[in-house]
Parts: sequence; C-alpha cells; structure tokens
Amino acid sequence: MATDVHRPVTPSPVSPASPDSPDSPETTVDAGSAVRVEGLSRSFDGRPVIDNLQLDVQPGEFVALLGRSGCGKSTLLRILAGLDRDIEGTVLVPRRKAVAFQAPRLMPWKRVWRNVLLGLPGKPERGVAERALEEVGLGHRTDAWPKTLSGGEAQRASLARALVREPDLLLLDEPFGALDALTRITAQRLVGELWQQRGCAVLLVTHDVEEAVLLADRVLVMDDGVIAHETRIDLDRPRDLTDPRFAELRAELLNRLGVDESSH
Ligand SMILES: Nc1ncnc2c1ncn2[C@@H]1O[C@H](COP(=O)(O)OP(=O)(O)O)[C@@H](O)[C@H]1O
Ligand SMILES: [Mg+2]
Repeated sequence: MATDVHRPVTPSPVSPASPDSPDSPETTVDAGSAVRVEGLSRSFDGRPVIDNLQLDVQPGEFVALLGRSGCGKSTLLRILAGLDRDIEGTVLVPRRKAVAFQAPRLMPWKRVWRNVLLGLPGKPERGVAERALEEVGLGHRTDAWPKTLSGGEAQRASLARALVREPDLLLLDEPFGALDALTRITAQRLVGELWQQRGCAVLLVTHDVEEAVLLADRVLVMDDGVIAHETRIDLDRPRDLTDPRFAELRAELLNRLGVDESSH
C-alpha cells in the first residue's frame, strides 16, 4: 500500500480530504492525535532511511527526537512538514503546522517583519508579525534587516515566522544547534514557554539529550529507520537539572544512544 496522506487531524468535525489523496480510505478525523504515522518508509537511491516507522503524537504533547547523525530525523521531519511526499505509508498531520530549521533561513532583502509574514496566505497585516515578534522577545527588531541580527535573534525571528501560522503542530529541526551555550539556554526556555502558552504539539529534533529531557513529555530515539526507543519524562516543570531523576533519565537516554557517560 502506498498512501501519501497529509490530512488535517485537528479536532474539526469533518476532515476534507487533501487534494492529492481524494480517494484515500482513511477519512475519519482522529481528534485524539496530532500526528499519526503508520508503516512509513522512505528510501534514497534504493537505500531505506525510514523503514516501516510508526509514530503517534498527542495534541499538545511535546516530543523530542534523538538519534545519531544521519539516522533519518530530518527526513522524518520534512515528511511531516509536507516537504517530502515521495513516501510509502500513512502520514496524518494537522493542516496547521509550521517548521523551523537549524538555519533561520531569513531572506536578507526583506525586513524582519516581512520575513515573519513570508508565505502566509492572504495579505496579513504588519501587526500580525509585530505580535509574534513581541511573543519571542524581538519586538524591538521588527524593522531590522536580517543581517543585523545575532544568531539568537535570527532564530527567534524564525520561531515568530512559525508562530504566525498558529500551528497545531510545531516541527523544530535542531533549532538551537548553532547557538552558543548561553543563547541556547534562553532559546530553550522560550520554546518551553511558547509551547505552554500555545498548547500546540511540538516535535523537536535535537542531538542534545539534556535539552530533550528538559523540554519534552516524551523522548524518542530513532535507529535503523524506526522509533527504536521511547522514554516518558515524568518530571514536574520547570525542570530541575540537579534532580537525581533528571540525571537518571539523561543517563538512560545516553546509554540508548550508545554514549558512555563515564568516558566524558
Ligand atoms: N535528498 C536526499 N537524497 C539522498 N540522500 C538523502 C537525502 N536526504 C537525506 N538523505 C540521506 O538520508 C540519511 C538520513 O539523513 P537525515 O534525515 O538528514 O539524517 P539526520 O537528520 O538524522 O542527521 C542520510 O544518509 C542522508 O545522506
Ligand atoms: Mg538532521
């Protein structure tokens, strides 16, 4: 079966089939999940990178995805974002979704606020961008040119661009990977706050185990083309890095990733 379904699963009563899959049998809305992936496979040049993968994300859930470099995390994220449809299997995602990558991908010839509105349907007003920029603490840079932003500011602008889409699913691909340690901590905190305020589901790809335990309800480890492991993070928020349980979960995940902590 090869079904390429990118269909809204937002809790709307009826889900119109997406134009690219009008005859697909799965027409019921599953308001119980934000993401449903079944039997997903993706190969490049005959080499399977994703191989019969299953994944469910609940509405409002924060899921972190770990895995060694090259294991297919970005490939999975791009598929969920609808950027890669050359797949086998079933992928159900909300209509309202947004993605932010490690590189902020701002157009240098457009001011920050115009970048934030880029690609939005209709003729959104400047105020829409201003509100999103306020939300990420960048209200004072609304009229700035992208090249004048620091790395952290550019990443905030990229987040604002995701937020104006009012996503039910926010897809983040190593968004803090290029930031220095201090800026990263601030940006992580911001994402945690935005998630709590917005209530959207988040899938965060990261290589940082601590970041995953800090932010996520559930941490997944991808390996061999599937979700090979999951750990539920049952710690209260805000999370305390000095909590022994935090260290335990971190160690367990590092172990899953094949990293021996004692060698650090
Ligand atoms: N467009 C593409 N064409 C060919 N190979 C690709 C393409 N995109 C990804 N790959 C390969 O798929 C594998 C997984 O890549 P990726 O999803 O980027 O890994 P990760 O994000 O986990 O580091 C890698 O071996 C990569 O080279
Ligand atoms: Mg990647």
